[in-house]
Amino acid sequence: MDYNLLLGVHYRAPQHLRSLMSYNRSLRADGLGIVAEEESMEDEISNYPQGLVLVPRGGGDNSSVVGPHIRGSQLRAASATGDEEVNVDLLLPGTASAILLHIHTLKTTTPFMSFISLSQMELSSIQNLLFIFLISLYIFHFFLIRKPKPTQTTGFKFYPFVGTLPDFIQNRHRFLDWSTEVLSLCPTNTAVFRRPGKVHGVITANPLNVEHILKTNFDNYPKGIRFITLLQDFLGQGIFNSDAHLWKVQRKTASYEFNTKSLRNFVLENVTVETQTRLVPIFQKSAKTNRVLDLQDVLERFAFDNICKLAFNVDPGCLGGDGTAGGEFMTAFEEAATLSSGRFMYALPNLYKIKKFFNMGSEKKLMDSIGVVHEFADKIIKSRMEERAEKRDEDLLSRFIGTDDNSAEFLRDIVISFILAGRDTTSSALTWFFWLLSSRLEIQKKILQELETVRTRNAKRTGETYSFDELREMGYLHAAISEAMRLYPPVPVDTKACKDDDVLPDGTIVKKDWFVTYHTYAMGRMESIWGSDCREFKPERWIENGTVKQESPFRYPVFHAGPRMCLGKELAYIQMKSIAASVMERFEIDVLNKDKCPEHLLSLTLRMKGGLPVKVKERYVEA
Ligand code: HEM
Repeated sequence: MDYNLLLGVHYRAPQHLRSLMSYNRSLRADGLGIVAEEESMEDEISNYPQGLVLVPRGGGDNSSVVGPHIRGSQLRAASATGDEEVNVDLLLPGTASAILLHIHTLKTTTPFMSFISLSQMELSSIQNLLFIFLISLYIFHFFLIRKPKPTQTTGFKFYPFVGTLPDFIQNRHRFLDWSTEVLSLCPTNTAVFRRPGKVHGVITANPLNVEHILKTNFDNYPKGIRFITLLQDFLGQGIFNSDAHLWKVQRKTASYEFNTKSLRNFVLENVTVETQTRLVPIFQKSAKTNRVLDLQDVLERFAFDNICKLAFNVDPGCLGGDGTAGGEFMTAFEEAATLSSGRFMYALPNLYKIKKFFNMGSEKKLMDSIGVVHEFADKIIKSRMEERAEKRDEDLLSRFIGTDDNSAEFLRDIVISFILAGRDTTSSALTWFFWLLSSRLEIQKKILQELETVRTRNAKRTGETYSFDELREMGYLHAAISEAMRLYPPVPVDTKACKDDDVLPDGTIVKKDWFVTYHTYAMGRMESIWGSDCREFKPERWIENGTVKQESPFRYPVFHAGPRMCLGKELAYIQMKSIAASVMERFEIDVLNKDKCPEHLLSLTLRMKGGLPVKVKERYVEA
């Protein structure tokens, strides 16, 4: 009997899952099979310790096999008999660190499979069993009582009763790519999505719909209760997680800060100082010692120091010393963002509440990390409130502190939102930018040529600080960064809620309380928007008559659009261009494994799973 081997992981399955499907295996007559006989496959498997599942090739046979993941371990076979039978097999092997649930039925033309896996046996506790039980119940009910009807040919596949859930479970670990594939096949690049628990909505990559949601009918598309509730523990009522009056107040207050000329200078000054005194020395040291750096981590630390200085006039020194200070806070912040966004990915939308109630698993971890983040933010607020009477530079926080009716808790929410805005976005953009550049020498060359032209024109030496106007002259660099964000937008999807029934410009009906997601990541991959070379990294598409083209924010909603458009866009470009120029002209960045596309870590922003390991070499050494 032949089988295909699939690796099953929680929601971060390997992106190259498909390639693994080509590993065919035979079972012995007694139902036992050995995996990982070939060395190459052993390597693959050892990368994914969470588990694996065997399913029948071609779906013609009923048998299904479920087993623990251990390399070279034996797998047990279980058969489903009868046309109506659903085979649910749950293994809890004492030594295995995986629980796998495999469901297979004859009634579907393609085998339907669902599984969860957990990396620790200690996590195989009530919440997981409950999850398994509930999902089994759903699917059992659906397969035994109803026959699946053929549904629409494009869009997300609907199954009676469970809607999009089966496909969602199978693909949530690669949600961005899966939903991009689906949207690109839809006539208007828009699809309806339904999951149990009234999670109904529309996902769109259509610029006309985006304009309607973000601008034309803005009032009908707030963040909404679901979004706000899921992120409340982490973001509280900060600007990213509020609507109506609470949002307006913060937007207005923050706008003053962002609109000043002094801000622009302040940003540039801070970026320059941090680059010269921290970033460059770290790179120099790494070049000398040939040490591998995690570029993503370095850039996040940089951005974190920078935003804290800008928003609160505090220097946490995360990039200072050997570049490892503030580790606890950094880790906690990352974990809080990732686990909070993970709440959107539950198969059963309210399951997180049960876990939260019992303070278990990921919810316990989330609460612990939020505790660390709050402690850090509270310290900033406390010290700043004590200094309130003193005359200080007007930074962002002092504008909010100046308003007497803001509680310490609300100020904390503001602090956290701005750290998120400033830390995770520019660092994400630059990390992907450097990875994309690593295998495109001709683009690197063009950027270096442009830097040289700007230096010559302004009589500058390599390594000297660039002014705001000089950064503006760097059109090609600007285009290359914009192009990197087109393919890897730091905020890859953004969700709103529909207040009242509506019809989108492409004719899609949206019901009250549905979510509406615009999919920036997918939009960068739509032929309808960017043409047949949409997946290519091509900065030239941004250049028109020798200058950078202004793109419509509805075709390129990387910075959002309409009344809630990003306040930090200009600041972000100053920061990103300044860092990219200073680093590129001094160092060659050699990305390890550059030909392999890094996996996404879908948090609130698009991060790289496992960071970006690089080696650096100095291009020029000061005399
Ligand atoms: C590459 C860098 C950046 C990108 C791609 C980006 C993107 C975005 C996006 C997509 C939103 C809308 C989010 C939502 O719906 O809640 C947003 C909002 C916002 N961004 Fe940025 N951002 C960047 C950098 C920054 C920086 C450096 C700051 C400031 C320090 C900043 C401040 C804000 C603020 C305050 C909002 C909230 C606007 C509102 O809700 O009214 N952003 N940004």
